[in-house]
Amino acid sequence: MKRYFGLLFLMAILVASLGASAQADTLRVATEAGFMPFEFVDPDTNQLVGFDMDLIRAIGEVLEMDVTIANVNWDGLIPGLLNNHYDVIIAGMTITEERAESVLFSTPYFESVQTVVIRQDTEDIAALEDLAGKIAAVQISTTGDFAAEDVPGIRSIARFNTVSEAMQAVINRAAHAAVVDLPVAEAYLAANPSAPLRHLGPAAENEFYGIAGRRQNPELMERINEALAQLRADGTYDAIHETWFGAQE
Ligand code: ARG
Repeated sequence: MKRYFGLLFLMAILVASLGASAQADTLRVATEAGFMPFEFVDPDTNQLVGFDMDLIRAIGEVLEMDVTIANVNWDGLIPGLLNNHYDVIIAGMTITEERAESVLFSTPYFESVQTVVIRQDTEDIAALEDLAGKIAAVQISTTGDFAAEDVPGIRSIARFNTVSEAMQAVINRAAHAAVVDLPVAEAYLAANPSAPLRHLGPAAENEFYGIAGRRQNPELMERINEALAQLRADGTYDAIHETWFGAQE
């Protein structure tokens, strides 16, 4: 009997330590995969693919960590991170002062900008300011939402959970324009060539995407920043960029 308990005790320790090391070696990532070409579901394979997905998997390789990626609602990303449901967010998330009060951002990994998406037959919108008196469609709590809010005299903002719903609102004439990240607008138009839409090009100040982690875990973000620097130095970053955006001039 005594022996039996000893064995059980040993097994319990073994299981506990295996569990602990498995957790330490896994990077739990969250994204919102409605953001082609950064994160989206490949319809053929059902896998999460895109620039961010390749980047975070490459970071996982450098750090010798397994990467698991959860696809959650955009406005649930930061609350889920703060509640320790995952370790980091990579979701084309722009580094903003307000977000940086609650999360810890990596060094910037991508430079982006807002654009305004309109119907091809729209003639009276040529800049963000022209949304005065108009209805803008946005993904809720994105920098597109904030940019629309800042337009003096804007009539209203229709807030959606996803970019594709915001685009659909413009197609349906429920909104005059959508304010979204430019690379995502371009990918959307390329993937939906029959959508009667165009976009205005850069329509605001540049912004920078960062990976977000918990402020209580600066060690992890330090390692991620080191991995990012290594991937830039060894050409992996450029290769991933080329995969999703073509060769750079
Ligand atoms: N860059 C914008 C922001 O940070 C939009 C990001 C949306 N990302 C997404 N995966 N839906 O607010």
